[in-house]
Amino acid sequence: TRPLAIGVAGLGTVGAGVLKLLRDNAGIIAARAGRPIAVTAVAARDRSRDRGVPLDGLRWYEDPVALAGDDKVDVVVELIGGSDGPAKGLVEAALAAGKPVVTANKALLALHGGALAEKADTAGVTLAFEAAVAGGIPAIKGLREGLAANNIARVTGILNGTCNYILTCMRDQGREFADVLAEAQKLGYAEADPSFDIDGVDAAHKLAILAALAFGRPVDFSAVHVEGIRNVTALDIKLAEELGYRIKLLGIAQAVDGGISTRVHPCMVPVSHPIAVVDGVYNAVVAEGDFVGRVVLEGRGAGAGPTASAVVADLIDIARNRATPVWGASAAALSNTPAVPMDQH
Ligand code: HSE
Repeated sequence: TRPLAIGVAGLGTVGAGVLKLLRDNAGIIAARAGRPIAVTAVAARDRSRDRGVPLDGLRWYEDPVALAGDDKVDVVVELIGGSDGPAKGLVEAALAAGKPVVTANKALLALHGGALAEKADTAGVTLAFEAAVAGGIPAIKGLREGLAANNIARVTGILNGTCNYILTCMRDQGREFADVLAEAQKLGYAEADPSFDIDGVDAAHKLAILAALAFGRPVDFSAVHVEGIRNVTALDIKLAEELGYRIKLLGIAQAVDGGISTRVHPCMVPVSHPIAVVDGVYNAVVAEGDFVGRVVLEGRGAGAGPTASAVVADLIDIARNRATPVWGASAAALSNTPAVPMDQH
């Protein structure tokens, strides 16, 4: 069988991780995909940088949008990031050209997911984004496919590894926020704009995506309440601990009377709750469905390996022609279900 030809835009940590995973696990990936998956083209600025993976023989583009026009590319993988600019241009161009897209871009989906989903669903093309939320945790497939038969009452998550690492160090070492911040950023998980991590914006992007899946429609990102961890002190954490709680930055999306509430803020989590012990750069996603009950998923939420694992899972689905509408059901099908407005609380 002809290999599925992939074009990768963005060759940072995650992009290099995807190339490495496709190479190292090529046998098992081909078996599960039903055909080999091969990267044939890339878009990145710096051609000379050593990324630890061989790049010989690949077609190179400096302009990512040009990748969408490459006739020999079957699927576009967008790993540039950012809610606007080249990432958005590339995804739109690829969908318009009828090419499936895999993206890790949470900001893009949180802000433009509604419009992009319409484009993808109308064109009958897959827009896959397992890597956009909680890195290697199969949160998207878990919620959208695994729990598809349930009414979801609430989704809660530790959705930012940088913040969880900072809070964990503050608790274990009694250090203050500012003191641990630089160290957390050195881990390489921080956003290009690090205030996106510590002010809760990155977690809010991911929460908006989970809420859209849980409740079957795009979320108005401007209605998400967003508060980060800048004002949490080591004393807060110590006092919470004495009362039997851990302080975690949580994203919470729940059905409330007449709407959906979406919020990100530091929370007191009882030590007996399964996510109280999710520490360091780990993430967790908890979903509550009417038939399944509570489901807890935990794992590494950032980094080359976990994020590449999620990207390639999406590529295997595409190779297998396994397609699900972006928010789990078509807009037409959802128009038969009661509309749920957003609120701020
Ligand atoms: N900055 C993010 C985090 C990376 O710290 O979790 C993964 O989206």
